[in-house]
Amino acid sequence: MNNPLSRRHFLKAAGAGSVFIPSSVKGYTGKEMRRLVIEGGIEADISKWELDTPALIVDLDALEGNLANMQNTLARNGIASRPHAKTHKCPAIARMQVEAGSVGICTAKVGEAEVMLEHGIERVLMTTTNVTPVKIERAMSLSRWYPGFVQATDTPANARDLSEAAEAAGISVDVVIDVDSGGHRTGITPGRPALELSQLVDTLPGLRFVGMLCYDGGSQHVQGFEARRAQTLERLRPAAETFSMLQRSGLNTEIFSGGGTGTYNVDHETPGFTDVQCGSYVFMDAQYLGIGGENDPTVYSDFAPSLTILTTVINSQYEGRATTDAGAKACTINRPWPIVKGESGMTYTSGSDEFGTLRYEEGASRSYRVGDKVELIVSHCDPVVNLYDQLYAVRNDRVQAVWSVAARGRST
Ligand SMILES: Cc1ncc(COP(=O)(O)O)c(C=O)c1O
Repeated sequence: MNNPLSRRHFLKAAGAGSVFIPSSVKGYTGKEMRRLVIEGGIEADISKWELDTPALIVDLDALEGNLANMQNTLARNGIASRPHAKTHKCPAIARMQVEAGSVGICTAKVGEAEVMLEHGIERVLMTTTNVTPVKIERAMSLSRWYPGFVQATDTPANARDLSEAAEAAGISVDVVIDVDSGGHRTGITPGRPALELSQLVDTLPGLRFVGMLCYDGGSQHVQGFEARRAQTLERLRPAAETFSMLQRSGLNTEIFSGGGTGTYNVDHETPGFTDVQCGSYVFMDAQYLGIGGENDPTVYSDFAPSLTILTTVINSQYEGRATTDAGAKACTINRPWPIVKGESGMTYTSGSDEFGTLRYEEGASRSYRVGDKVELIVSHCDPVVNLYDQLYAVRNDRVQAVWSVAARGRST
C-alpha cells in the first residue's frame, strides 16, 4: 500500500479540478477500494486523486444538495417525487431518495426493478410495458413477492396478457396505463382510447387499476425556461384531460406520474399530476447544463453537476493537446462532449474507443503532463453510469464510500 507520508504530502495539494500526482503515490485499484469497504477501512484518508482511472465519482455535497432542492421545491408546489432509477442504477442512491421523502422510485427495465426491490426499495413503478412472455413472467414474479411493484400497460391486448399471467400465478397485480405525450414512443392515445383501456384494466380479473403515467420526454431539454414550460403544459393537456375523465368515471386515480428534471418546477401546473419522475437531477450532465433555467437563460443551474469521470493523462508530448485514458468506453460518444471541470479554454472529445483527447485553445487555464489527472463533467449521465461497476462517493475530495452500480447492465 502507499507510503502514508508521501500520500499526506500529496493530499495537501489536492482539491483543484485537476492535480499532479507524484509517482510516489501508488494509488488504489477498484478491487482494493472494494476490499477496504468490506474490511471497514474506508475510514482511511483516501483522496479521489489516488483512484485508478477511469473512475466514476459522485460528489456527496452536490448530490445531497440536489436531493434537497428537488424535495423542497416539489413540497412547496404540492407534488411528490418518484425519481427514475434508470439514471443511477444504484440502490444506495435510491435509498437516499426514499429517505429524502420520495414516494417510491421508477425503473425502466424489469432487471432494474429486480435489483431495486431485492435491495429493499419497497415501492417501484416500472414505466416501460412488458410485452414478451419471459418479461411478463419476471414481472409477475416481482408482483408476487413485492406488493409495492407497479407495472405499466398501453394496449388492451397487453392488459389481457398481464391479467392471464396474473391469474395463472394466482395473484392480483397493480397496473397503471401509459399515455402518449405526443412523441408516439410508448403509451396509448389520450382521451377515449386511454379511458377504455383503464376501464378494461379495472375489470380484468388479474389486475388492479391504480392510475396512469405520461412522460413528456420531448420537452425536457427544450432551450429556455418559458419555452419549455409552454411546450410541456401544452403537450400534457390531453393527458390531464384524460386523468380528469378517469376521475369522473370513478376509477382509482391514486397515481398520475410524469415529468422530469427539465420540467420539475412546472409539472405541478399540470392538473392532477401526483408525482415527478425526475431522473438526471441527482447527477446533472452537459446536456442538461445547456438548457438554461428560470433564473439563468444560459446555464441550468438549479442542480449541481455531482457526477464526474476521473481520467489520467497518458501522453502530453504533442503541442496543443494531450491524450487521456477515458474514451468512448468510459464516457460514451454522446454530445455535447464532456466538460473539463474547473478549467477554461480547453475541449475534450471521447470519440476514440480507449482514448480521450484534450485540446487547448488560446488562453487555456493550464496544460497537463503525463500522469496528471483530469476531472470531467459527464455528457449524459444515464449511459455513462451504465459503464461502471462502482461509484466513488466523495466529500471534500475524500472517498467516503464505494457504491455498487448494482443495476448496471441490467437492461433486460
Ligand atoms: C419514462 C421516463 N420517466 C422519467 C425520466 C427521467 O427524465 P430526466 O432524466 O429528464 O429527469 C425518463 C428519462 O428518460 C423516462 O424515460
